[in-house]
Amino acid sequence: MPFDFDTLPDRRSTESAKWRVYDEDVLPMWVADMDFPSPEPVIQALQERIAHGVFGYPWPRDELTEVVVAWLDRRHGWAVNPEHLIFVPGVVTGFNLSAHAVARPGDGVLVQPPTYGPFLKVAENVKLVQQENELIRGEDGQYIIDLDAFEAAIDEKTRIFMLCNPQNPTGRVFRVDELEAMAEICLRHGVIICSDEIHSDLVFNGHKHIPIASLDPEISANTITLLAPSKTFNIAGLKASVAVIENDELRQKFEGAKQGLVGWVNLLGQVAMQAAYKGGEEWLEALLLYLQANRDFAHDFINEQIPGVSMIKPEGTYLAWLDCREMETTGTPSDFFLEKAHVAMNDGGWFGQGGAGHVRFNFGAPRSLVEEALNRMKNAKGAS
Ligand SMILES: Cc1ncc(COP(=O)(O)O)c(C=O)c1O
Repeated sequence: MPFDFDTLPDRRSTESAKWRVYDEDVLPMWVADMDFPSPEPVIQALQERIAHGVFGYPWPRDELTEVVVAWLDRRHGWAVNPEHLIFVPGVVTGFNLSAHAVARPGDGVLVQPPTYGPFLKVAENVKLVQQENELIRGEDGQYIIDLDAFEAAIDEKTRIFMLCNPQNPTGRVFRVDELEAMAEICLRHGVIICSDEIHSDLVFNGHKHIPIASLDPEISANTITLLAPSKTFNIAGLKASVAVIENDELRQKFEGAKQGLVGWVNLLGQVAMQAAYKGGEEWLEALLLYLQANRDFAHDFINEQIPGVSMIKPEGTYLAWLDCREMETTGTPSDFFLEKAHVAMNDGGWFGQGGAGHVRFNFGAPRSLVEEALNRMKNAKGAS
């Protein structure tokens, strides 16, 4: 079935954060949602549910759990017990809850900058001490983990490690040896792994997402995995996510931390999640090809036509991490491109250590929009 990823939907007339935060003449290539309508089965299921007209308190149906479990098995080769799922209204909520559940004030939370900004708020939210293992560039320019530094960043305070895989903003999809090494170090030091795998379905040819908990029962017993259809099917506004926690004690702690603070996934989120995992696979396959072509286009354009800016191909996600350190401008590159090109991107500083001099460019959009944004950036650079 053909899918149309080329038509730009009008989102300015909606409540879209992406399209409403900046002035009308700015192209929004920032926050991580895509400018594509969700797959038809999702839209249809929501329409049918709305037509029913009664919207009382929801409860995850068995069918929803079955569909999630089947998805993890089919797409990621991960056999999960349905009883180990806990639905949560958002992955950011999920990782803050995880820290709240397992750590006490003064404990340490380990993060890997440059990383998704909200990871860098967990310490403040839960009154923990932030510990950092900065990702470094390998010989080919891709980000890698300095495993000695990873272990050295852990001390007796460290209680929880926030893994982001696939990694936002660098686009890395960690290999099995990298995951095994991090898991082994965490096990040896009694550090719980909270693995944010929200981008796990968005992985390009030549790479494979491996849920860290799927590696080994001992690792699974030490891990909280957070997943969602929100990036995959562009339904982030519906706040539907799920935690997979095999360890009974850990699961009870997580449930306990939720009580009175975090509710269930709203009913439209549940309906959309079920429909997406059940009927969205063909759309996803087509989307991945489109995103990969956008990625390759942006990569060539940036490296060949925007002096001082370079891009490494992300292995997953629809986010490109642009290194602008060789650009000769005063101020941050995000301010420069916003002011001179009217293109909005996330500033590298938001991602913590190692982020300065970078911007994050979202290519989850019709090619025409990606191309226009890049042309504006090229022209702004040429004129500066
Ligand atoms: C790594 C990562 N985790 C979590 C989120 C947000 O998740 P949620 O909207 O479910 O809280 C994002 C969104 O960009 C993300 O990139």
